[in-house]
Amino acid sequence: MRKKITVVGAGNIGANCAMWIASKELADVVLVDVVEGIPQGKGLDLLQSGPVNGYDVRITGTNDYAATADSDIVIITAGLARKPGMSRDDLLLTNYSIVKGITTEVVKHSPDCIIIVITNPLDAMAQTAYMASGFPKQRVIGMAGVLDSARFRAFIAEELQVSVENVTAVVLVGHGDTMVPLVRLSNVTGIPLTDLIAPEKLAAIVKRTQNGGAEIVKCLKTGSAYYAPSAAAVEMAESILKDKKKVLPCCVLLEGEYGINGTFVGVPCKLGAKGVEKIYELKLTAEETAALHKSAGAVKELVDVIKKKNA
Ligand SMILES: NC(=O)c1ccc[n+]([C@@H]2O[C@H](COP(=O)([O-])OP(=O)(O)OC[C@H]3O[C@@H](n4cnc5c(N)ncnc54)[C@H](O)[C@@H]3O)[C@@H](O)[C@H]2O)c1
Repeated sequence: MRKKITVVGAGNIGANCAMWIASKELADVVLVDVVEGIPQGKGLDLLQSGPVNGYDVRITGTNDYAATADSDIVIITAGLARKPGMSRDDLLLTNYSIVKGITTEVVKHSPDCIIIVITNPLDAMAQTAYMASGFPKQRVIGMAGVLDSARFRAFIAEELQVSVENVTAVVLVGHGDTMVPLVRLSNVTGIPLTDLIAPEKLAAIVKRTQNGGAEIVKCLKTGSAYYAPSAAAVEMAESILKDKKKVLPCCVLLEGEYGINGTFVGVPCKLGAKGVEKIYELKLTAEETAALHKSAGAVKELVDVIKKKNA
């Protein structure tokens, strides 16, 4: 039985999600967007890349959710992206309405799917999809940590001139300035980072990781990153569809873990066929716990704004 992934939002991230999914032959893809012609055109273009790249998946573009029926996974990328000078939080209310509306349609047509949210501000949008879907918490997951740790890994590999594959990096919580790259638990094939990189250099790499998105927004001027964000979401989808049970940093609803209750926070999770199959509780230092709670508090403030709007 062929698998099916719907990607909502056929912009930069959505189109690249479709491309990564097709190139890995993970599933048939339905691209959805509000703008007429964009998902259809990009869908056709990607379909026609198949004979060249040797992938055999069906790719369709549509403005109608009927075509998304019975998707195994739905990746939500729709919404405004940041422009220079904007924070992710500036997108809150507009993207809240977009994500809420989309989730309602998604649930109607694919009641058993697993939702992966990419739209910013990520943690609050994952919580929006959770609230609007009525799904169990295992089936609504935000993508940020895979991207943030990929950025951290790329910078470390560049600094040490080693393969990115040898670098394991742990990044916790909020997708933004409150993100916590855990230097203590990151390593290069088991060698602690602190043995390999001087403290000042490490601090600079942590800072660059925290500003990783803004650095790209500043270069692009008209939008935000899309190659790595789409690749990260597709790694999560692959772990779910193939039941690989990868342990990846994901934004999930915490219910008491780390002393946090009722907020979506980025923590290490096992992703398999059932979605989030386990949340791992790392033993944190007092300083790391404080940073985690600060980040969760920032997410809660945003969620309180949308809850008030919803009341
Ligand atoms: N989670 C992360 O790590 C991460 C990283 C980068 C960007 N993002 C976020 O991802 C989102 C998408 O970024 P992008 O670069 O693809 O933006 P983009 O502007 O290229 O694409 C967004 C698409 O959404 C569509 N859209 C808007 N409203 C819609 C609706 N109601 N239904 C269906 N489609 C709709 C637009 O027409 C557009 O095609 C932004 O919110 C951005 O901030 C998240």
